[in-house]
Amino acid sequence: MNLKPHISSAELAQDFKARFGVQPKIFSAPGRVNLIGEHTDYNDGFVFPSAIEFKSRVAIAPRMDGKLVLQSQEFSEQFEFDLGQVPGTKVGAWCDYVLGVLVTLREVGVTTSGADVLVRGEVPIGSGLSSSAALEVASALAFMSLNGASFPMPQVAKLCQRAENTFVGAHVGIMDQFISCLGKAGQALLLDCRSLDYRLVPIPDSVRLVICNTMVNHENAGGEYNKRRAECEEGVKILAKWYPGIRALRDVTRPQVQEHASDLPEVIYKRCSHVVSENERVMESEMALKSGDLRRFGELMKASHRSLRDLYEVSCYELDTMVEAGEGLPGCWGGRMTGGGFGGCTVNLVNASDAEAFAKRVAERYREKVGVQPDVFVCSAADGAGVERDGSV
Ligand code: GLA
Repeated sequence: MNLKPHISSAELAQDFKARFGVQPKIFSAPGRVNLIGEHTDYNDGFVFPSAIEFKSRVAIAPRMDGKLVLQSQEFSEQFEFDLGQVPGTKVGAWCDYVLGVLVTLREVGVTTSGADVLVRGEVPIGSGLSSSAALEVASALAFMSLNGASFPMPQVAKLCQRAENTFVGAHVGIMDQFISCLGKAGQALLLDCRSLDYRLVPIPDSVRLVICNTMVNHENAGGEYNKRRAECEEGVKILAKWYPGIRALRDVTRPQVQEHASDLPEVIYKRCSHVVSENERVMESEMALKSGDLRRFGELMKASHRSLRDLYEVSCYELDTMVEAGEGLPGCWGGRMTGGGFGGCTVNLVNASDAEAFAKRVAERYREKVGVQPDVFVCSAADGAGVERDGSV
């Protein structure tokens, strides 16, 4: 696995002290894997993700000269701004996620003082595991603490989403930031993306989430993501002629879409069909997980993948090959692409006792077909964001 070695908070604090001469506070926030419910969040629908053990950490200490100094353990570029001259839009570098959060906090009335900041990211970048949401959320907690601000976690998630939408310019939904804030170890989180009501559902100890990285960087897909969003909006606009009350595809049922198949352009019909059926699958998968019916849960994951591949058209050869590589292996209940698509990772629900053998075999099968060695991670659901070191030591 091409992973950065995990470093402890003490090591990060030591590096901070060596760079800036003081002890920092340290905040962390995890990446995520979505079990089911893809491309539903921006349609006001339902998602069912877990936080994972990979996280981003932000170490911070105040500065008295009104400057903001941003450094990273991963990137050599460092940034320094006078607080009065922080850019209003992205600069096109890693610091955008940190700056975007700072600017958004200011917009909601948080006064910010100068700071030294050191970032350590251990969520694989560009692999669809939400490294950017993790960095945003950890940055938000760091700036809030430094400036004595406090918001409930769902609001922190919304502020971070807003930073990504308006400052970074990626029109993502709420899922990634929300699960990074509110994930719980051993649990999946069912989120209603309209009301932000959520329920935690335990994942049985007997299974693991095996995440397989196709090594195809998904970030090239920004244009397609926005196109899908627009297609969903067009679907709502057309269907509203018959159902004037609808605000999003969340409000539409499968029979309604079917009834108007011939009124919708074919592509729009396919997109709408995916979203309404995916919402149904999420609700059913919650029941399956609660009742320990892993077989059904796995079937729903497989159906989700087919729908994303054939109707929403956000899969790719490598993702399909990775899903197929896991099919039929001992202990595997089901697998699917996870996240936005066009590369990134698959997620598989696998019996704990078979997980290591599964990881090895799936990697071999994928390498044989694609000619690339994938990273495969055997994961469990982890806790959401929090403070790791409060600066008192
Ligand atoms: C990306 C976005 C999320 C969500 C998924 C697709 O991860 O950041 O908001 O839309 O794609 O489910």
